Amino acid sequence: MKRSLIEISDLSQEDFFEILSIAKAISNGELPNIKKKLTIANLFYENSTRTRVSFELAAKRLGFLCTNIDIANSSKAKGEVFTDTISTLNAMAIDAFIIRHTSEILIKEAQQLLPECQFINAGNGMNAHPSQALLDCFTIMQHFNNPHEQTVVIIGDVRHSRVANSLLIALKKLGVKNILISAPDYFLPQNSMPGVTTEPSLMHALDGANVIYTLRVQKERIEDAANLPMEDYLDNYCLTTTKLAKAAKNKIIMHPGPINRGIEIMSDVADGTDSVILQQVQNGVYTRMAIMTWLLNQ
Ligand code: CP
Repeated sequence: MKRSLIEISDLSQEDFFEILSIAKAISNGELPNIKKKLTIANLFYENSTRTRVSFELAAKRLGFLCTNIDIANSSKAKGEVFTDTISTLNAMAIDAFIIRHTSEILIKEAQQLLPECQFINAGNGMNAHPSQALLDCFTIMQHFNNPHEQTVVIIGDVRHSRVANSLLIALKKLGVKNILISAPDYFLPQNSMPGVTTEPSLMHALDGANVIYTLRVQKERIEDAANLPMEDYLDNYCLTTTKLAKAAKNKIIMHPGPINRGIEIMSDVADGTDSVILQQVQNGVYTRMAIMTWLLNQ
């Protein structure tokens, strides 16, 4: 089977740091010397702004061909099943598929079906979002020479977050020792992770924190979303300048986007000088260029 990126846990330490190192070189203006040009298909069965566009731009900046499949107007509406769609595209000589889907298993089934193709997981249900975790680690490394010594706090809807799942594994690969999750019971992950501390009080969690990573409430994945105690959530977990008072001076504020202003983060925090949210977006292109370069380096 050819090299693919399905989950962060599939990457060796060497692969993980190789991708980050390629991303750094690209961010410094060094374009990789690509001998083979890939043909990429973007298949997004769920909405996306930054992931879809940055994969497209990344492919094009490497000189690859990239086609965006318009799922809403595709033959899916006429009853074509996913496996027939990718087999059809494969017959048009697609080298790599970038897939976002509500299903956690579909991308692995696609890999089994088309072992000659390469796959990048752009988000599979609540499971994983590996390119987001890589760009987040790259952003943390841009700000801290010693990321392993920083205190990272992940806030909010961790339970329904594929971003958090991948980020927690990536932070471990980065060697971060002090990782906290601050969330109400209903947003805590179902399974605890070794070496990750749960601190329900956001004020306590933020005390001395360097990397502050907040998450959107993922209502589309919550059955009873209308009955969430949002007033309580806003009071206790919406990121405000007051709550951030005891965080470290050299802190960075991160969010994978899209942000819901006034729910998980106030505008003055999202747009403030410590916010690196748009740097994450910029780094998304470098990191996705790096991932595609790494796909070829095997
Ligand atoms: N962070 C992220 O996955 O954003 P999009 O849904 O806009 O791709």
